[in-house]
Amino acid sequence: MTSPAAADLLAWYDRHRRALPWRALPGERADPYRVWASEIMLQQTTVTAVRPYYERFMARFPTVAALAAAPSEEVMQAWAGLGYYSRARNLHACAMAVMADHRGRFPDTEDGLRALPGIGAYTAGAVAAIAFDRPAAAVDGNVERVMTRLFAIEDLLPGARPLVRERVMEMMPPDRPGDFAQALMDLGATLCTPRNPACGLCPWREPCVARSEGTQESFPRKAAKKAGATRYGAAFVLSRQDGALLLRTRPPKGLLGGMAEVPTSEWRADYELDGAAQDAPVVTRWRELAPPVRHVFTHFPLELTVFTARAPAGMAAPPGMRFTPAAGLGTEPLSSVMLKVLELAGAYSSSKTR
Ligand code: ADE
Repeated sequence: MTSPAAADLLAWYDRHRRALPWRALPGERADPYRVWASEIMLQQTTVTAVRPYYERFMARFPTVAALAAAPSEEVMQAWAGLGYYSRARNLHACAMAVMADHRGRFPDTEDGLRALPGIGAYTAGAVAAIAFDRPAAAVDGNVERVMTRLFAIEDLLPGARPLVRERVMEMMPPDRPGDFAQALMDLGATLCTPRNPACGLCPWREPCVARSEGTQESFPRKAAKKAGATRYGAAFVLSRQDGALLLRTRPPKGLLGGMAEVPTSEWRADYELDGAAQDAPVVTRWRELAPPVRHVFTHFPLELTVFTARAPAGMAAPPGMRFTPAAGLGTEPLSSVMLKVLELAGAYSSSKTR
């Protein structure tokens, strides 16, 4: 079996690359601002869903300077509908940091990018490669699927991620890192799909180990989601100077449907507290409380780390949230886990938790 070559993937990409609004034409240099904004939007949403938002967003904020100078309500409004509003707040904070600390130019290295608000390992790699042609790995779910199939990597994700990054770096074509990153993404999105991958059309059909063994659909291997595995998350208690607390209502269906809660991150078995600030409802100085609040639901135990912060008296609630005056807390449908959170934060005391 031949070993896979970046050149074969790049030749495929040159013929089949998707035309995307943030993507530079062949031979053109990508605009780091446009690349960065697209990567933030694509983090939680599909290309199809992002496209119209992206076009409108760019028409409204054509440069990082324009975005940084915009009032946050305007940024939130342009983002409305994309969900995960903390990303929009971080996006705005990042634009302001680029203006204030980098004279309006995005850092051109992975490390430099990583230091900006809202930019994690994936985004730093993607922007470094796509906008600056740095040999950096941008490993998202698509790339994990492609690489674990190509090399039949049996190790379980997320533990196998460093190995996947290593394989990407080993294949990195020094002259076209940005195209290589995007080619991997396109291959994963269009041919190397989770089910029924179009192996017959794949530029790596020959060297793909999983395909040669007929096991392609069994990759990537993932750690089994044990029923009952502890989930972790961050909860954010924001109290305004007048005593009002920032709350939201959970979606009507599902766990604690329709109940009131302080904003939290997702609750996940692999939640990483390091990035908790990215999940906060507002960018401010959050104080971490200890120990975390523990609660046992029917199907899983939950451990929430509580962060608190104060907001000025006149502050308006972010979209989809509300400030409930202290006197009104008693009528909010707060679940027991939320009462524990508020009690730890010293924001509310209820006889229900005793
Ligand atoms: N998914 C995430 N980032 C992407 C990009 N730059 N191009 C295509 N798909 C993507």
